[in-house]
Amino acid sequence: MHNKVLILDFGSQYTQLIARTIRSQNVYCEIHPYLMDAESINDFAASAIILSGSPFSITNKNAPHPNQAIWNLGIPILGICYGMQLISANWGGEVHAALKREYGFAELYVSDSKDVLFDGLKQTEQVWMSHGDALSKLPECFDILAKTDNSPHAAIKHKTQPIYALQFHPEVVHTPCGKKIIANFLFRIAGLKADWTPGSFISESIKLIRDKVGEKKVILGLSGGVDSTVAAMLLYKAIGNQLIPIFVDTGLMRYNEANRVKELFASYPDLNIRYVDAGTSFLSKLKDVSDPEQKRKIIGSEFINVFDKVAKEYSDAEFLAQGTLYPDVIESVSFAGPSATIKSHHNVGGLPDKMKLKLVEPLRELFKDEVREVGASLGLPDSLVQRHPFPGPGLAVRIIGAVDIHKVQLLQQVDDIFISELYSSDLYNKTWQAFAVLLPVHSVGVMGDERTYDQVCALRAVNSIDGMTADWTELPHSFLKRVSNRISNEVKGISRVVFDISSKPPSTIEWE
Ligand code: XMP
Repeated sequence: MHNKVLILDFGSQYTQLIARTIRSQNVYCEIHPYLMDAESINDFAASAIILSGSPFSITNKNAPHPNQAIWNLGIPILGICYGMQLISANWGGEVHAALKREYGFAELYVSDSKDVLFDGLKQTEQVWMSHGDALSKLPECFDILAKTDNSPHAAIKHKTQPIYALQFHPEVVHTPCGKKIIANFLFRIAGLKADWTPGSFISESIKLIRDKVGEKKVILGLSGGVDSTVAAMLLYKAIGNQLIPIFVDTGLMRYNEANRVKELFASYPDLNIRYVDAGTSFLSKLKDVSDPEQKRKIIGSEFINVFDKVAKEYSDAEFLAQGTLYPDVIESVSFAGPSATIKSHHNVGGLPDKMKLKLVEPLRELFKDEVREVGASLGLPDSLVQRHPFPGPGLAVRIIGAVDIHKVQLLQQVDDIFISELYSSDLYNKTWQAFAVLLPVHSVGVMGDERTYDQVCALRAVNSIDGMTADWTELPHSFLKRVSNRISNEVKGISRVVFDISSKPPSTIEWE
């Protein structure tokens, strides 16, 4: 497949934003560690390359450099920030460490507005700078396209080749014209077509799934959430009854979840879902376990046990499908390559050896909002497609401390009141994720004439794009008041309700 962009990652915190900006213009792209070798670069067959920023200084002798093969491909290259230093260094320019780091807004003065990269831009635009190094000598074969007060080389271009470099960051929202600049690079300079659409993704995926799976059966864990449901529909379209969807009721789901899933799939009777009620065994394995990582491990291995048991009933089951998304994949591979992985994701670590199934991950290249678009294109109802994310380990990581059935039921009631009030106030779709947390804290209250000593629950609501960073949602006071009143009146065992006002970072979205 041509018509795609290769982003080489040198470790910038903004690299994912480059990918999102490109994908949002319906062009396919992938992020790869800067160490990608010549053969893989050739095989990838990109139509254009973008070199990301980096926390490194190119003046450092350990500075990351791409494989030299990229300079000889003859395709357009755009270097951003550190990527600009790499381009300059390759063509004999000089870079120095600036005395002061330039960080924040700058005015960009476009000196060559005829160049297609800046087509449609005003003479002066606001851009976002974040760099220590700067170009001290322009390579001879380059021209200046734009300046800022502090950067005489804010944008440069090779005199004869489609090689561009920017000192500022077009991928961040603080550069309002950035999307336009990237669009000009993609469509006008690299000649890409905007053909990455949910429809093209669906037909391409169906082909790939059929090629990979052949006549074999595929087991899929269906949670009722957006990702696994979209994965199920895609697989069902591709391989029909070779798909064996399993809904595992862990006993740690939202209120009435199993029934809701049954209702949702009632209109797909030939999607033969197996319902496994495993609540008792999950809860007994979690008895007295308080450590969050321990809880995750126990739940992960219980899931594998259930899938393994079902797989044994089908001698021709050869695959396990998962709804892994692109941020999970990126988060698990460091820019320095797999050898320097910082964090491994529950979905990306592969399967235990004892399980003989191979993985199928049809959503592995998508961001969450793209999964929602694909879901809508597959005809799934809006109420499903817009559902908030829900973690695999479920309420176990929202009950702080040891988990038991009583606490699960308490939290389910609280969560259900919060979520249904969000729906009825038309706030659900304006919030990226909302939920309740049960705290291992008792506080004094008064109910009628009686003193109570019941548990405290926290409400959490966040706005985010992909869960990587998040702000707490400013829900109206009148709304919070109503939810708090309902919880205190209706849920026996809760005497106090608090609202979490932490952002990510430094907090995470979930409490555990
Ligand atoms: P955090 O808490 O890391 O959450 O800020 C980011 C997003 O990921 C979800 N999350 C999980 N999802 N298994 C999952 O499937 C997990 O172990 C897990 N932990 C967090 C979380 O709900 C939020 O949407």
